[in-house]
Amino acid sequence: MPGDKVRVGLVGCGVMGKSLATQLRTIEQAELVAACDAFEEAAKAFASEFGIWVTTNLDELLARNDIDAVLIATPPHLHAEQTVAAAQARKHVFCEKPMALTVEDCDRMIAVCRENNVNLMIGQVLRYFPIHAKVKELVSSGELGRLISITIYRLGGGFTGIWAKDWRKSKSLSGGMLMEVNTHELDYLHWVGGKVESVFAMGGNFLHRDYDYPDCVFAILKFRNGALGMLHASQVSIAGDYGGRADCEKGSLLFPKLWGGELIVQTEDGHKVFKAEELSTENPVRRELREFVESILERRPPAITGEDGRCAVALALAIYRSIETGKPISLRGWIM
Ligand SMILES: NC(=O)c1ccc[n+]([C@@H]2O[C@H](COP(=O)([O-])OP(=O)(O)OC[C@H]3O[C@@H](n4cnc5c(N)ncnc54)[C@H](O)[C@@H]3O)[C@@H](O)[C@H]2O)c1
Repeated sequence: MPGDKVRVGLVGCGVMGKSLATQLRTIEQAELVAACDAFEEAAKAFASEFGIWVTTNLDELLARNDIDAVLIATPPHLHAEQTVAAAQARKHVFCEKPMALTVEDCDRMIAVCRENNVNLMIGQVLRYFPIHAKVKELVSSGELGRLISITIYRLGGGFTGIWAKDWRKSKSLSGGMLMEVNTHELDYLHWVGGKVESVFAMGGNFLHRDYDYPDCVFAILKFRNGALGMLHASQVSIAGDYGGRADCEKGSLLFPKLWGGELIVQTEDGHKVFKAEELSTENPVRRELREFVESILERRPPAITGEDGRCAVALALAIYRSIETGKPISLRGWIM
């Protein structure tokens, strides 16, 4: 790394790749040097939009000595192999969620990054949305007493518009709804509620017959600290919605519009309102990339590690297994 800049290569020039590239370019200590997309048209379009060198061959990108780190924004089934290849080429890795499709792949990614002394950060970006972050801060501070229960609902109507990609219909490519969409919420529940003891879930494919996985799921989580969590994950909702609530011994946290909106904290003494725009205005994707870049420059682990990404993957897999077996599934052994 020359001076105090991290030189970055992007892998996957699709929707998220462009979002990462756009935000990275606003970070002074980072420079986007090159990009790779397996599809020539996507690579060329990216080159003309961002004015940088591109290739369709990942090995060629990884062979460049002027790249310190890569951002991986390809479909989920590619994350493990591409992370392993990048780490072996001694590049720090920022990998989009879901980290991988199996716990074994997550373990491989963590091990190879450790062996090659490179950072591994997973793009669990919800942690940087202002309302999400404020809920975590208040629960962790203990000022409202012990967490008793937390519920998150994220309802969509299926993958349309820019999200309508064939790979999203296949569980073996995307990980299905619980990985492709809800690793966000599973990471969040785990971050706020702590380690999960077990899950029990019901779900099925109700509407999108062309998806080979459940499109509506109710999952109950039992945390090791005794608290309860619930995720209502759905792609069958015409109206859609995204929010939740948490109840602690001495106060309730109400967040009916998680992406923005406000957080109401209700105690016996009255209520307080936090508005998203007053908490933070930094773009959450910029914020996560800034953390990645700063962690490399400061030679420290990033705030969101491979172990965090692995927990979200383990939770999704356990929920799928509970749906299939009709039984509660213990996370002991999966989440250390
Ligand atoms: N953090 C978020 O909020 C968020 C939002 C959207 C997507 N994502 C994640 O980003 C990842 C990509 O999603 P997307 O919406 O950008 O998908 P996309 O389909 O728009 O883009 C994927 C790109 O990867 C390219 N690609 C496919 N195989 C490749 C290979 N072998 N080597 C290099 N490039 C290859 C494709 O040509 C495509 O351009 C997924 O893991 C998804 O979950 C995260």
